Amino acid sequence: MKLIDNQANIQAIRKISSQFQTVSMEIDELLSMVINTAAEIVGTRYASLLLVQDEKTKKLQYYQSSGHHMGELKDIEIPPGVGIAGTVSKTGRMIVSNDVQNDKRWYKKANEEGHVEVKSIACLPLILDKKVIGVIQFRDKTSGEEFSEQDIDVLGRFANMIPNFFQASQSRRALGQEFDRLKEKYMRRYTIVGESEAIQKCVTLAERLANSKASVMINGESGTGKELFAHLIHDRGPRQTRPFVSVSCGALPASILERELFGHEKGAFTSADSAKIGIFEAADTGTLFLDEIGEMPLDMQVKLLRVIQEESFIRLGGTETIKVDVRIITATNRDLEEMVREGTFRQDLYYRIHVIGITLPSLRDRREDIPDLVTYFLKKNTPEGQPIKKVGKSLRAHLMGYSWPGNIRELENSIERAVVLTDGDELTPDSFPFESQDAPIEVTVGASLKEANDAFRHTFITNTLKSTGGNRTKAAKILDVQRSYLSRLIKELQIS
Ligand SMILES: Nc1ncnc2c1ncn2[C@@H]1O[C@H](COP(=O)(O)OP(=O)(O)OP(=O)(O)O)[C@@H](O)[C@H]1O
Ligand SMILES: [Mg+2]
Repeated sequence: MKLIDNQANIQAIRKISSQFQTVSMEIDELLSMVINTAAEIVGTRYASLLLVQDEKTKKLQYYQSSGHHMGELKDIEIPPGVGIAGTVSKTGRMIVSNDVQNDKRWYKKANEEGHVEVKSIACLPLILDKKVIGVIQFRDKTSGEEFSEQDIDVLGRFANMIPNFFQASQSRRALGQEFDRLKEKYMRRYTIVGESEAIQKCVTLAERLANSKASVMINGESGTGKELFAHLIHDRGPRQTRPFVSVSCGALPASILERELFGHEKGAFTSADSAKIGIFEAADTGTLFLDEIGEMPLDMQVKLLRVIQEESFIRLGGTETIKVDVRIITATNRDLEEMVREGTFRQDLYYRIHVIGITLPSLRDRREDIPDLVTYFLKKNTPEGQPIKKVGKSLRAHLMGYSWPGNIRELENSIERAVVLTDGDELTPDSFPFESQDAPIEVTVGASLKEANDAFRHTFITNTLKSTGGNRTKAAKILDVQRSYLSRLIKELQIS
């Protein structure tokens, strides 16, 4: 089974992002709420939070203080071991002093209220992963009383809470950055480059289909963007936050494909030592992308049809009917109608999954998009901070003249390769060593007319097939012959 990892990432990203946005309170707001609540409960006049600024000097600096402008406090630095706060941060042990003026550890200069007579102080360390990250201090109870044991207990609880908030906020910040990075990386996958009418028609159709649950079949030569469009349809529709699960039907033998699709109960077959959910269950409420549907064996086609019709199935070895709500998108580069005619693809299934079809154009049918795609892939494949290589005029013609049998994937790969292998700041045709467009027809004098004729037909048909990416129906259309006749010629002339 080929699950698309990127999709899992995107789902994770979406989840993180929505949580990220719902927890809107910033760490500073949270901290000020915490220390003010603590101060209120215990009834102290002032509360402040100091943090160890850097690992090396371990100096404390004011981070928050109730009832004070932080401006003047920001400049105060308290080295470890100096004053009450410095001692707490050095030793990691709290200090409660109810007669500060006579406490030797008291360091007047380090306090925000240097000019006010302070009577009592409770200073507690903030410890994260066994390291002191700062201290909180509370001063003078409004009642004028000393700090009681109960007060210290309450303040201690708050002191234990704060490092967790820091940790959460740090990972939140890190998550935010990671989120942006991943979003940039993965969301770009959904950029569909190209202004040509041919591709724009497909985009418009895909966007329109996104809002329905109709089964869509995407047809197109290899590398034309079938998977990309499947993502696009899922992503623009109401299921966008739900799973997108992809299976390549051609990659697995029928028996394994069946297990993967429907899951199994414990003991359903020899190696089934535990129950496992299948792809249909995994895709429930989301989209199931069945890639290379034309490769699905006939007996699996029957089973697939049944699930699609009934919207429910039974796990292998199970008895319970499981209901699922799955939108099906399929893709193929084969001519399924032809397969239906030949009897290798079930007609009833074909009608079920081909409610609406999108046929993606080959790149050679929309050559006008090549320059934009080149620019896009150049940017995508140039490492950050490095200049983007230029494309000369002759290269542009070279790229637009090529037939791109591997379509956009081939274009992307060749640009990636060219960027790596070309020194200098300009790409040239030498960076793209395609063999020339069409193989020349070589017949030397001495051959019979039949041999020359065969050689001509062999090369000509080969070139035409190459230009359609091997699609015989299209090649037959270009050659203006029946498809069945073309197949006969291919066999006769031993074209591989
Ligand atoms: N219009 C486009 N703009 C930008 N990138 C595209 C476009 N179409 C395809 N690509 C990129 O080209 C590559 C091939 O696309 P994709 O995998 O969707 O093709 P495919 O039709 O599924 O190919 P295959 O038949 O080989 O499975 C991907 O990297 C995809 O992101
Ligand atoms: Mg594909």
